[in-house]
Amino acid sequence: MSVPKSVRARARKLHAELHEHNYRYYSRDDPLIPDAEYDQLLRELQSLEEQYPQLITPDSPTQRVGAAPLKAFGEVRHEQRMLSLDNAFSDDELLDFDRRVRERLETDEVEYAAEPKLDGLAVSLLYRDGRLVRAATRGDGITGEDVTQNVRTIASVPLKLAGRSIPEVLEVRGEVYMSHAGFEALNQQAASAGQKLFVNPRNAAAGSLRQLDPAITARRSLEIFCYGVGQVSGGTLAETHTDILAQLQGWHLRVYEDVQRVTGVSGCIAYYQHYEQQRERLPFEIDGVVFKVNRLQQQQSLGFVARAPRWAIARKFPAQQRETRVLGIEVQVGRTGALTPVARLQPVFVGGVTVTNATLHNEEEVQRKDVRKGDTVIVRRAGDVIPEVVRVIRERRPAGTQKFQLPTSCPVCHSHVVRVEGEAVARCSGGLFCPAQRKESIKHFASRRAMDIEGLGDKLVEQLVEKERISHVSDLYRLTVEDLAGLERMAEKSASNLVEALQRSQSTTLPRFIYALGIREVGEATAQTLAREFGDLDLLMAADIEALEAVRDVGPVVAKRISEFFTEQHNRKVIAALREAGVHWPVVEKPQAQPFAGKTFVLTGTLSMPRAELKERLQSMGGRVAGSVSKQTDFVVVGDNPGSKHDKALKLGIPVLDEATCIEMLSK
Ligand code: IVH
Repeated sequence: MSVPKSVRARARKLHAELHEHNYRYYSRDDPLIPDAEYDQLLRELQSLEEQYPQLITPDSPTQRVGAAPLKAFGEVRHEQRMLSLDNAFSDDELLDFDRRVRERLETDEVEYAAEPKLDGLAVSLLYRDGRLVRAATRGDGITGEDVTQNVRTIASVPLKLAGRSIPEVLEVRGEVYMSHAGFEALNQQAASAGQKLFVNPRNAAAGSLRQLDPAITARRSLEIFCYGVGQVSGGTLAETHTDILAQLQGWHLRVYEDVQRVTGVSGCIAYYQHYEQQRERLPFEIDGVVFKVNRLQQQQSLGFVARAPRWAIARKFPAQQRETRVLGIEVQVGRTGALTPVARLQPVFVGGVTVTNATLHNEEEVQRKDVRKGDTVIVRRAGDVIPEVVRVIRERRPAGTQKFQLPTSCPVCHSHVVRVEGEAVARCSGGLFCPAQRKESIKHFASRRAMDIEGLGDKLVEQLVEKERISHVSDLYRLTVEDLAGLERMAEKSASNLVEALQRSQSTTLPRFIYALGIREVGEATAQTLAREFGDLDLLMAADIEALEAVRDVGPVVAKRISEFFTEQHNRKVIAALREAGVHWPVVEKPQAQPFAGKTFVLTGTLSMPRAELKERLQSMGGRVAGSVSKQTDFVVVGDNPGSKHDKALKLGIPVLDEATCIEMLSK
């Protein structure tokens, strides 16, 4: 059935009107018509589209929800890197920033754009010919996740831009966040449904955006503020950041209303102070303010270093501090027997989460701060950082407190506590006889980056060990649905899911298996190196200290740990039992097949991706990563502020790669 002209015209008119109302309502908070009228227009369009499905276009105002759930997110490579920001934690640091900017620009005074730093997650919105075609998370700045279907459900993200002179390709960047009100409402719902609560609005926003089912995202009240652009072509943008934001707003993108042009540091400080005061009264969470050199030309001449532009800085609010009381000091026993004193605290809300305990690291630290049971202390937590005890308020110490002392026997298994000379850590000598070490080693074995046993969480491991259903990792594979059902929080269904997950985990890789064994000092990267060098578990188990030390990056300490681990009869038995139970892995590829086989890299300077990650990627392609530059080095990869290694590479005539080029080589 073809669509009558008049219907097509009406649909077009409804599109335009609804887009406009959407914008006025969600982006400007200034609706032109009552909600009921809006609903009526939307229903009219829906019924036209029902009658004539040809009318449905991806940018129709009816098409915000309804996409089918995904199995996994696709990957998006950012055409232009998504940078992050350097931080200033004091006015002095801000002064330094401004001085550097002025020196580089050779000017006395700089105009900045000042805006709040929203605490959500960064997204990239790609518009082609004014239509939203893709939305992605920041990821590591180079590749992110394709979250288009989810972002389409955010009412303040226009599916279609309005106005004139819209560039053919326009990539907009902004922060998706959840307001305090949206967060409270979500948690109230979760509470009444008996579900887990989100700890803070940022986690709630991230969790909501990274949902495989867009229908769930649609029910969460996410919002966006746009704060910049990425790639642009087929059109021109204004010459200052503030004018660009005005352009974006003209195209119906949502921009924060109080972005100000300020002059010099004094202008910046005034803006910061205003927001430090207003912070609590804002309807959403901010963790500081951002200053950006306003003129684009100046931005370009400043450029950027590894991870962040030289033309912008985040002035962060100080880490929140709160007073609370120490209810006790517990000693936890870790996987390798390390004893860690932990302060149990009167619950206190600080830095966006409720804190109930804070690590005291080791005995020396407790002695230095002299934290005691009964003390009133100041705790601090900033952003994602783990909470810490800043200091004790001595005047408030009650009478009769006692200095903390680390026990001389393990609080769990009562074995001797040993302390190696020169090490701050004290350890339980019980080994796998100690239930605490056993629990931790099983948790480690099951963890995502090790054997990845889905559904085998910490609480479950604790129950299994306490009820003596398992004592070693090899016992896991003997568990049956009957063994599991009947444990706390274990219905039949989850029990059979777990048994399936256990079966799935039997098919693993050699690096994962080596890592899962939990040998001291053997992290993921070392496990990979060992798997690559030996190619076979039996060869690794038979290796003597010399053979181990011959492996690049394995020093005498690590070699000793590995050798000790495999000499221990108990460990050999557990490994044999695991293999007997069916744990297996494919033969490890020989390094010869790898593009960087035999090549030695040295990394120096501040890199944008975690150094360990880059190292691992190089190693997985056969490369070696050494700590110092010599004639044997093939490439030196330099990040920001490289030091003497860079100089040495130049002196020796060794090829120098910047990080981007190196990553490019990796992805070839
Ligand atoms: S600009 C080139 N502006 O902060 C600079 N970022 O620490 C790129 N953020 O990843 C960022 N509010 O998620 C900018 N007004 C704002 C911001 C902002 C929040 C976030 C953003 C970014 C992170 C960097």
